[in-house]
Amino acid sequence: MAMTQKIESEQREADGRSVDSIERDDRPDKDEVLLTVNQVERMFPVGGNTLHVLKGIQMEVKRRQLVMLKGRSGSGKTTLLNCLGGLDTPSKGDIWFNKQPFSRMSDDERTLVRRKDMGFIFQAFALMPLLSAWENVELSLRMAGTPRSEWKERVAECLELVGLEKRMHHRPFELSGGEQQRVAIAKAIAHKPILLLADEPTAELDTGMSAQIMAVFQNIIRTENVSICMTTHDPTILEVADHVYEMVDGKFI
Ligand SMILES: Nc1ncnc2c1ncn2[C@@H]1O[C@H](COP(=O)(O)OP(=O)(O)O)[C@@H](O)[C@H]1O
Ligand SMILES: [Mg+2]
Repeated sequence: MAMTQKIESEQREADGRSVDSIERDDRPDKDEVLLTVNQVERMFPVGGNTLHVLKGIQMEVKRRQLVMLKGRSGSGKTTLLNCLGGLDTPSKGDIWFNKQPFSRMSDDERTLVRRKDMGFIFQAFALMPLLSAWENVELSLRMAGTPRSEWKERVAECLELVGLEKRMHHRPFELSGGEQQRVAIAKAIAHKPILLLADEPTAELDTGMSAQIMAVFQNIIRTENVSICMTTHDPTILEVADHVYEMVDGKFI
């Protein structure tokens, strides 16, 4: 049963003036498709030649799914993830996101969609070193244009979701790698994205910390109604995925 809730989205553009209000499914059906990739290819010109990196990718991510892209280094995972997040665009084929022709939008339109509805997590935790965990998460709300009056509650909520309520005022160098990655997750979900993209989020962590990160991912899928698409080459964490796409040399097998 899908319950729809009207959300006032105070998403501002860089000039801080435009405010839009959107309808968002609060509890979407699990079968609803969020992201569709149709025959995507990506070529790069390299020294007079063409390097064919993605060779006809077909995939989908449904609401509240945890989807993994598995594959060796160099197989094209990051290139695909960059296209899914609109940081890059396919040379051929198209990508639909949230019922919109994402890869065919203008750069500006895509940037707005990305800022509002997507969150990113990288292998190296991408935190501001001089800011505390709290301030790092707050910064992402500031950048998303969330009204200041909502910051305190949302920052506390996000740090609690990732299990860091006791480390709120620590700075990155005072935190373990796993804790830093949890701050990065809190930061990535603070503005309530519907899709989280994570590029090898556990690559720099040991097995125990990786398992914690996966538990956090499962927790936020339940509580935040977000879908997650992540890359990995760690076989032990693949078992928690709803779906695994295995990439070899720019194609799924
Ligand atoms: N901008 C680019 N220009 C040229 N080659 C690229 C570019 N981006 C990625 N590649 C090449 O595409 C291949 C796949 O890279 P990547 O997507 O990073 O793989 P993975 O993330 O699976 O390790 C590599 O051979 C890489 O050198
Ligand atoms: Mg990569």
